[in-house]
Amino acid sequence: MVCKAADPASLDPIETASVDELRALQLERLKKTIKHTWDNVAPFRAKCEAAGVSPSELNQLEDLARFPFTVKDDLRQAYPFGLFAVPRSEVVRIHASSGTTGKPTVVGYTKEDISNWADLGARSIRAAGGQPGDMIHVAYGYGLFTGGLGAHYGAERLGGTVIPMSGGQTPKQVQLIEDFQPDIIMCTPSYMLNIADEFERQGMNPAGSSIKVGIFGAEPWGESMRQDIEKRCGLDAVDIYGLSEVMGPGVASECIETKDGAVIWEDHFYPEIIHPETGEVLPDGELGELVFTSLTKQALPIIRYRTRDLSRLLPGTARTMRRMERITGRSDDLMIIRGVNVFPSQIEEQVLKVRDLAPHYQIELTREGRMDSIAIHVERSASGRARNPEEITVHLGQAIKDYIGITAKIVVGEPGSVPRSEGKAQRVIDKR
Ligand code: DLL
Repeated sequence: MVCKAADPASLDPIETASVDELRALQLERLKKTIKHTWDNVAPFRAKCEAAGVSPSELNQLEDLARFPFTVKDDLRQAYPFGLFAVPRSEVVRIHASSGTTGKPTVVGYTKEDISNWADLGARSIRAAGGQPGDMIHVAYGYGLFTGGLGAHYGAERLGGTVIPMSGGQTPKQVQLIEDFQPDIIMCTPSYMLNIADEFERQGMNPAGSSIKVGIFGAEPWGESMRQDIEKRCGLDAVDIYGLSEVMGPGVASECIETKDGAVIWEDHFYPEIIHPETGEVLPDGELGELVFTSLTKQALPIIRYRTRDLSRLLPGTARTMRRMERITGRSDDLMIIRGVNVFPSQIEEQVLKVRDLAPHYQIELTREGRMDSIAIHVERSASGRARNPEEITVHLGQAIKDYIGITAKIVVGEPGSVPRSEGKAQRVIDKR
């Protein structure tokens, strides 16, 4: 693949400023954010008072560790608008994330928040090698989900030509890609695989499409999945990260020239890694739970939001700002199978190593008596040479036993048998 880095002259100056400049800007913005939240969000102030901390105690960035965390349940309890820090009339947009149970988490944006988000979306696409004039096919879902509109505003702000396709209608996605010849696609990595399947179903090679870059995120995907997509679709695949509570897509995004983890746009978000159980702040480089504090948001400033995503903070490479290691998993996704901790991403890695298997998988958890059982549903690849499914079963089962340490039932189905996603893939079906 031709990896074309952004022209240095097109970058925002802060992307290559010195670390000292960046830290000074963060401290100034953090002080303002803490004060704004304290003054305008009663539940935050109450939490601070209970913890015996006030904005005057924030004198350096490390002092943030004294302030209380925000968790998803805080947003649920304040449903729908209780954590907004501006009058409702100043909120120009609402998004919500559905979650699996209970009420959705509602987030809001002022005009300036939307503009900052568009800037960061544009910055993310630029980091991926996008340029003004590029045609950008957006296949993230539009609506309450932040993916579609977040990508859309970013692509417009960059000066691209946006195709607001949204997710779904997969045959039509292929038709429009063929007819319009976009340069860039933005969708979940699992949906890209679904689109690639559809190309093949229509008798075309996805690698022959006009798309040069894919900006994929909203769900965990590993390095093997990246290689698989790049090879099969003939494009450069980069990672984009975000979450609605913190903003949406574009909290962090990967640079095409390094592909070494998403760069956290630290002028707008201050990251911390904490020990998931004790809450203690861990040094850069250690694995733990990602926590974000917004530095510029007005409508929904968010202090020390616990993402549940597990990662590490890595030093800057292509930019001054720190990078995050690919998300290993969410603490919510951790499966404990007969005492062994397993993340779906570990299973993905093994599935993708097996020749003759398509990169689609689904994990099914059941309970037999008091014992948990795990079944992994995979499928033969349509193009693969017909290896005996039994051979594949034994091979994958052994790899999972060797690398992960669990015994899993392997179910090899026909091409198309594993359910496909049009957005975030559902990797685990928990029937316990
Ligand atoms: O998924 C925002 C988004 C849209 C990001 C489009 C990237 C592209 P939520 O629906 O609130 O927001 O889900 C956020 O998705 O906490 C992670 O667990 C997961 N996630 C998002 N991006 C990545 C990624 C959007 N690149 C949750 N890698 C987050 C792994 C990701 N997980």
